[in-house]
Order: sequence, then C-alpha cells, then structure tokens
Amino acid sequence: MILVTGASGHLGKLTIDFLLKKQTSNTIAALVRDTTKAEELKATGITLRKGDYADYASLLQAFKGIDTLVLVSSGSMENRVAQHINAINAAKENGVKHIIYTSMLQTSEKSKFTAGIDHFHTEVYLKTSGIPYTVFRNTFYAEVIPMFMGDALTSGNWYFNGGNTQANFAARTDMAEALANVAVNSSAHASKVYEITSGKTYSLTEVASIISKIIGKEFNYTAISTADQAAAMKQAGLPEYVIELIGTIGETIAAGEIDLVDPSLETLLKRKPLGLEETLTQILKVA
Ligand SMILES: NC(=O)c1ccc[n+]([C@@H]2O[C@H](COP(=O)([O-])OP(=O)(O)OC[C@H]3O[C@@H](n4cnc5c(N)ncnc54)[C@H](OP(=O)(O)O)[C@@H]3O)[C@@H](O)[C@H]2O)c1
Repeated sequence: MILVTGASGHLGKLTIDFLLKKQTSNTIAALVRDTTKAEELKATGITLRKGDYADYASLLQAFKGIDTLVLVSSGSMENRVAQHINAINAAKENGVKHIIYTSMLQTSEKSKFTAGIDHFHTEVYLKTSGIPYTVFRNTFYAEVIPMFMGDALTSGNWYFNGGNTQANFAARTDMAEALANVAVNSSAHASKVYEITSGKTYSLTEVASIISKIIGKEFNYTAISTADQAAAMKQAGLPEYVIELIGTIGETIAAGEIDLVDPSLETLLKRKPLGLEETLTQILKVA
C-alpha cells in the first residue's frame, strides 16, 4: 500500500489524484491531521489515516501495513526537521520499504532560503536511515509566483527583491504526477535524488512579460532591495514572519539558486513538463 502524507494540502491531494488513475483505491492511503478536511478524499474510497508529524504515536499507528511512503514535507515550520525525523522513524519501525521525500532544489546548508535548510538536514537523516529512498528536490512552484506579487496584478507594477537572474519554476501538478509515477514503481528509483525543474529558466522581467500577455495589460517588474521590500511590507501591516519568508525567497531567486534546468522531471513524466506560460495562464484565470 502507498501512503501519501500532507494529503489535505495541494501537492499531496494532487499526487493521490494521479495515483487513483494508476491503481485501485484500496492500494492507496492518505495521512491527514484533521479528518474534517478529508471529505473529498474519503469519497474516493482510499484509506484515511489520522496523524500529526509532531505526534510520534499517531504516525506509528498510521504507517501500519504501508510499503511506500510519500513523505510530503511539512507545511508547519516549527521544529520541521524533528517532524520529518518522526515520520522517518515511524516508517522504519513499521518496516516501510521505501520513502519518497519532497525536498528543495539544490538544497544546501548555505541556502539563502533559510526555511528550506530543513530539507538539507532531513535528507541527511533519510539517507542514513537505512530505508530505501528517493528524493524529489522540487524547485519553487509556478503556482506560488502570484504570492510574491502583492497588489501588482491590479497596479501593473511588480516590485520584488528577486533580482533578475534566471530562475526555474515548475508546475506543482507536474511534480505530483511524477511523484505518483515513482510511487507505483519505487524500487526502480532507490537512492535517486532528482532535481525537479521545468524545461526553461526565465528572468523575472521575462516572467512579467508573460504575465502581461496573459492578463492583457501592461505589467512591469522592478527589482528592489530586501530592505526596501521589508519596509514596504511592514508599512502594509504584514507580519514579521511573512516579511522574512518572502524576503528569503526573493534572495534565493536573486542568488541563482533555482537557475537550473534538469531533465529529471521530463524523464519521470515521459513528456515535456508544462511551460510557465501554460501554468500561469491556468492560475491567473482563476486568481
Ligand atoms: N516548492 C515550493 O514552491 C513550495 C511552496 C510551498 C510549500 N512547499 C513545501 O512543499 C510542501 C507541499 O506543498 P503544498 O503546496 O502541498 O503545501 P500545502 O498545501 O500548504 O500543504 C501542506 C500540508 O502539510 C500538512 N501538515 C502541516 N503540518 C503538519 C503536521 N504537523 N503533521 C502532518 N501534516 C502536516 C498540512 O496539513 P493541514 O491541512 O492539516 O494543515 C497540509 O496537508 C509544503 O508543506 C512545504 O513544505 C514547497
């Protein structure tokens, strides 16, 4: 049986959707920490397990009878490495045969993306756990680009500290499909670390011109300093943790940490990944 964690979230839910196209529902399980968020999942007929990364006993119970664990990294940042270690240990105690972990592109201890350094430490733990593993080092989702734009879609002026280095954004839906492809044949991907990117990089000026085409009006990007961005966000009343998170994301992009094109996603999908224009068109038409 394959269990997907973070199943109430975007990536986990999408991965289950793709798994359901490949396998019967009685071979798929989902971990959620709040079952009231799982009505749609329940309706698919898959097995629901309740568990919280911070509660080891709940994971130990939830991972019973699981062969392959798709460990979607936690959306809660507090003690995140410890949360992931709980999941890896509970998997080991249950004899789980393979873990697929969602990490960050080119993860490094020295990354500007301070929140992402958790992935580096989780990978180190996973690789020494003795459980066969596959790592998906996902680049930033194309779907999150609008989160760095403030009110730019209305004003037409996007100010951000992302510099103008080339950057690779990939569709979260593609990552989910690739996760499902690997999960159904996990032993073929043992000890693999995949850098997950789309087929092309863009500067943020180029991203802005794609957006301009999609929304049919002028849309310009201006690179600003992290300090100026923080001051503007503070004035707009945004909480300190949001100011810091967006600031580090911009610095990560500006430093070229997601300036990479790797063929892994295309290989795992057996087709070309979605292009940025296609994904942004889908996102912005519902935004
Ligand atoms: N590459 C990128 O651009 C990018 C962007 C954002 C996030 N991420 C990372 O990738 C992960 C998946 O992305 P996503 O878009 O699916 O994020 P998401 O929609 O925010 O989903 C996060 C999931 O983590 C679960 N979760 C949080 N704390 C948990 C805990 N203590 N125990 C068990 N589950 C917990 C959430 O459950 P609840 O519904 O109960 O909160 C939710 O299902 C995120 O969690 C984050 O680590 C990557």
